[in-house]
Amino acid sequence: MPDGTLPGRVRPALTAPHPHQDHELQAKLAAWNRVRLAPQAPRSDWRAALDEEHVMRALEIDFIETTRMAQRARAQTAPREPAAFVPWFEDLKQSGPGQGDALFPWLAERATLDEMRWFVEQEAAGEAGFDDLVAMAQVKAPVQAKLELARNYWDEMGRGNAKGMHGPMLEALVRALRVTPMIETTLAPSLALGNTMVAFGTNRNYAYHAIGALGLIELTAPTRAVHVSDALRRLKVSAKARHYFDLHAVLDVKHSEAWNREVFASIVAETPEAARWLAEGALMRLQCGADCFDAYRRRFWGGDGRTAPA
Ligand SMILES: [Fe+2]
Ligand SMILES: [Fe+2]
Repeated sequence: MPDGTLPGRVRPALTAPHPHQDHELQAKLAAWNRVRLAPQAPRSDWRAALDEEHVMRALEIDFIETTRMAQRARAQTAPREPAAFVPWFEDLKQSGPGQGDALFPWLAERATLDEMRWFVEQEAAGEAGFDDLVAMAQVKAPVQAKLELARNYWDEMGRGNAKGMHGPMLEALVRALRVTPMIETTLAPSLALGNTMVAFGTNRNYAYHAIGALGLIELTAPTRAVHVSDALRRLKVSAKARHYFDLHAVLDVKHSEAWNREVFASIVAETPEAARWLAEGALMRLQCGADCFDAYRRRFWGGDGRTAPA
């Protein structure tokens, strides 16, 4: 290997930054994800496109395998019986990486409107589209899990009513705050979060990781949404504009209960060895969040981001 690249690795292991902090890598993946998930026309240069896809998929899988290794040991402790797996999973709400982060009470009580605008911009740019991720996750899922994923998807779709769709609600907040989420101005960890979810959704080897990570979002989103809602209300952002966070502060509590009972319990009952993959996906998603919160605190508070200015 002329440049010190190890076999099976795309990037040199010792010199590269942690993938969550590697803006060049994450921006490249985010731009590629935007293109590859969009509907496209047939191409006459499909062989060249396939070669390019091979390079990008290798980058993606290398990134995911690196971050997966960091969670492997903890994920292996996940119980393989449904009755024990669900409480183990629910405990991540307290004990998972990034949970109870000091960022959120600070947003609720202290952040300025400009700081909240920046926060929403970062969060929106890293958003991979929960609805599409659920749709991808349900392919060939066992019946009980598939039905719950369908109910969850239907809620994302406003139960068939455009005004109730969740994705456009976030877009409405982005418009009301007049922010422009862009890959170039989004921090590496925020891009990494979206890229991780897309990697899980598009690679069938990570199908259980996708279901674990999506269930983890339902489990942990309400606490954060309450704080973000409080911040937006304090800053007099209209109820209509902040509806996305008001809604998820409440609805995801129900989504999470149903997801754990219907999706996790049925998958672990049928495929006990999937427990560790569900757990790994959830822990990887938690670590993505924790790295975002850390980066946001550094940006807002300066220095190492550990102490808010008085
Ligand atoms: Fe939602
Ligand atoms: Fe939800």
